[in-house]
Amino acid sequence: MTFTEAKTLLDANGQSHVLRFWDTLDATAQAALLAQIATLDFAAIGRMQAMLAQAGQAATQAAPFEPAPVEAPEGDALAGYTALGEDLLRQGKVAALLVAGGQGSRLGYDGPKGAYPIGPVSGRPLFWFHARKLLGLKNTYGAPVPFYVMTSETNDAATRALFEANGYFGLDRDDVFFFTQGMWPALDPQGKIILDKPGHIFMSPDGHGGVLAALDRSGALADMAKRGIEHVFFFQVDNPMVNIADPLFVGLHAHKHADMTVKVCKKRDAHEGMGVVVIRNGGYAMVEYSELSDEQMERTNPDGSLWLAYGSPAIHMFSRDFLQAEAERHMPLHLAHKKIAMVDDNGQTIKPTAPNGYKFEKFIFDVIPNAKTLLTLAFDRTQEFSPVKNAEGNDSPATTKRDLQAKWRGWLAQAGVSLPENTPVEIDPAYALNAEQLKAKGLKIG
Ligand code: UD1
Repeated sequence: MTFTEAKTLLDANGQSHVLRFWDTLDATAQAALLAQIATLDFAAIGRMQAMLAQAGQAATQAAPFEPAPVEAPEGDALAGYTALGEDLLRQGKVAALLVAGGQGSRLGYDGPKGAYPIGPVSGRPLFWFHARKLLGLKNTYGAPVPFYVMTSETNDAATRALFEANGYFGLDRDDVFFFTQGMWPALDPQGKIILDKPGHIFMSPDGHGGVLAALDRSGALADMAKRGIEHVFFFQVDNPMVNIADPLFVGLHAHKHADMTVKVCKKRDAHEGMGVVVIRNGGYAMVEYSELSDEQMERTNPDGSLWLAYGSPAIHMFSRDFLQAEAERHMPLHLAHKKIAMVDDNGQTIKPTAPNGYKFEKFIFDVIPNAKTLLTLAFDRTQEFSPVKNAEGNDSPATTKRDLQAKWRGWLAQAGVSLPENTPVEIDPAYALNAEQLKAKGLKIG
């Protein structure tokens, strides 16, 4: 892009100020700024401005909703779905999709969150646990589950380097597909793009909903089609307990020809930070925890149980066709009022003490209302969910390590192995994916 092209584009979109320090920049900084301008999606920026304008008006009353019903298959149905899921895994029709573009700021960890050492004994990283489960699936079913890993500009190189340095944790490198999510600018209250340095536009990741456009743009969806993938298991990087592509979930989703299936579990307490699946305007939707009032979160049924009893751990199944169709649509935006470093008229960077701008994000679960068939499947969180989100307290490394070990001790007990209390335990998922596989090893310890 040339200076003239950039200027024409910015002028036409009311963003001429982006070039106001042009004459003070050296040639390298000028080239870098032009490259940034070339990535700007002005149609999306227009949608952000429209959203900002709406947010300034009186708050619109959100439509009322009810908690969504939850599936809990039993008996024959359970065995049938599991057998179907296993069949699909054997046929190589299932892929795993990991969103790992987030910044781990709550955890206070500097680096890709997937590199965080979570192995209670080994200190192995979150990525190791995810990758070894995929290896376990390949060993069990004889076909690979290709691994699509979404990174962001800030952690892409470090993520790839970690996989490379660790021999892809035993996976075939052809079965691992990295792709990078989009970045976009933040806006000031007047809808102007924020510069954090004279020659630099402040950019931030477009949210995990950016995965749809990124899957398409990167060729990952085409790669899935080429491999004959029909169903895609979606998960977040922070939960090493996740039961990746578990056959019951895959089979239920496939049997019902669902566009999307969402796992849900009982919330720990009324205020746990989990989205909830609801029925709103006659269809399914997810309401994010930050959008629930205290009253909604704390509301109880006559028997004292929580009205919004189930939360979403962000573990989903998608049909590949649905992902493809959704990749071609615009997702709604969510805005967050944030403190964003910004240049003043003299080109000095100012660090604000109060929120001064707006970041925008897309959330993957906003596709839910477009799903023709959507299911929710309940699961036991002691077996599948203990995310690392905070440095201390709930959902911290200490609680995740505790929960991982409690689960593995349970498996060992089922395999007839009793260990003295507090013995540190860690099981390589490629050695045993579940209690049955561990039992089949015929361990003799203790
Ligand atoms: C998330 C869900 C919430 C769910 C909870 C379960 C959102 C907005 N909320 O909350 O509904 O109940 O997990 O644990 O997701 N990520 C990207 N790119 C981004 C932003 C995030 O890849 O631009 C990834 C992160 O790496 C992470 C995941 O998305 O794997 C979740 O992000 P996070 O911000 O930690 O979400 P939570 O607030 O914990």
